[in-house]
Amino acid sequence: MSDKKKIDGKALASDIRIKIKDFGKKLIHKTSKIPGLAVVLVGENPASKVYVRNKIEQTKEVGFNSIEHKLDESITENELLNLILKLNNDPKVQGILVQLPLPDHINSEKVLDKITPEKDVDGFHAKNVGGLWSGLNSLVPCTPLGCSIMIKKIEGDLSGKKAVIIGRSNIVGKPMAALLLGMNATVTISHSRTKNLPEVAKEADILVAAVGIPELVKGDWIKKGAIVIDVGINRIERNGKNILVGDVDFEDAKSRASKITPVPGGVGPMTIACLLLNTLLTSYKQFGVEPIELSSILQ
Ligand SMILES: NC(=O)c1ccc[n+]([C@@H]2O[C@H](COP(=O)([O-])OP(=O)(O)OC[C@H]3O[C@@H](n4cnc5c(N)ncnc54)[C@H](OP(=O)(O)O)[C@@H]3O)[C@@H](O)[C@H]2O)c1
Repeated sequence: MSDKKKIDGKALASDIRIKIKDFGKKLIHKTSKIPGLAVVLVGENPASKVYVRNKIEQTKEVGFNSIEHKLDESITENELLNLILKLNNDPKVQGILVQLPLPDHINSEKVLDKITPEKDVDGFHAKNVGGLWSGLNSLVPCTPLGCSIMIKKIEGDLSGKKAVIIGRSNIVGKPMAALLLGMNATVTISHSRTKNLPEVAKEADILVAAVGIPELVKGDWIKKGAIVIDVGINRIERNGKNILVGDVDFEDAKSRASKITPVPGGVGPMTIACLLLNTLLTSYKQFGVEPIELSSILQ
């Protein structure tokens, strides 16, 4: 595939982290305060442990403080809620991230709802969700935010374009729809009950796949020239090796798409960069200096 078609999320995320570090330095110089991101991990889920490790490393790399809480699987819901309260009131913490999934005995919604909206760098609190759908300046979930930044780089305004999202989760599909609407696309959200999914997908000028089924989306689901954003991260075994693949059959899709994200190296790195972006934004607000706009960091 020509490199022109590949959307290099890894390189773009690295550029964004350099900007975050730069803005962070100025903020620290101005306020003598260091932005802090608290990461809460419960249990031993191997994928979650890898995500958390990467988040912690990159938090430190941009010059922010990383506050880590690695908790035993047996922690009670009340104990976790009390920790969130403590973090909400801790002036050294500007962002709080609770790594999902949580063990079955803990109600995730209750926990996410406990995080004060001002420190909700994952953008999952109902206040931030409502803000996003109302077009207000609120914290946006990191994965769809990363996807929207990649799409904006390719096409600034999506007036007259059709966008189709496969998946309706609160974490990806729904906020992605709000962001694409904000970019003036005509948006369709499809899901497991959608009929004739390949035909629906084929209408898309911008196709976002967030399903969790390895290589579900085939080349003949894709309109020629479409932008394809593959959010899926699926671990599979192929030819005796464990590999990561997306929700899009990359080899099949690449000849039809005009631009396509690879897995790995597409959406994944952008998600972490956006977590740090959100932490920078919350830090500006909490340190009492004039808030900055996302667009001023990204330009
Ligand atoms: N790159 C990243 O940073 C990042 C971040 C988050 C997630 N992910 C990955 O993205 C994928 C999706 O994550 P998620 O959290 O959104 O998953 P999720 O909560 O499980 O949601 C999956 C969505 O896909 C829909 N779906 C399932 N089977 C389908 C089918 N056969 N046809 C059409 N739609 C179908 C489901 O529909 P129903 O609602 O009808 O059940 C649901 O809306 C996963 O692979 C996950 O690992 C990656």
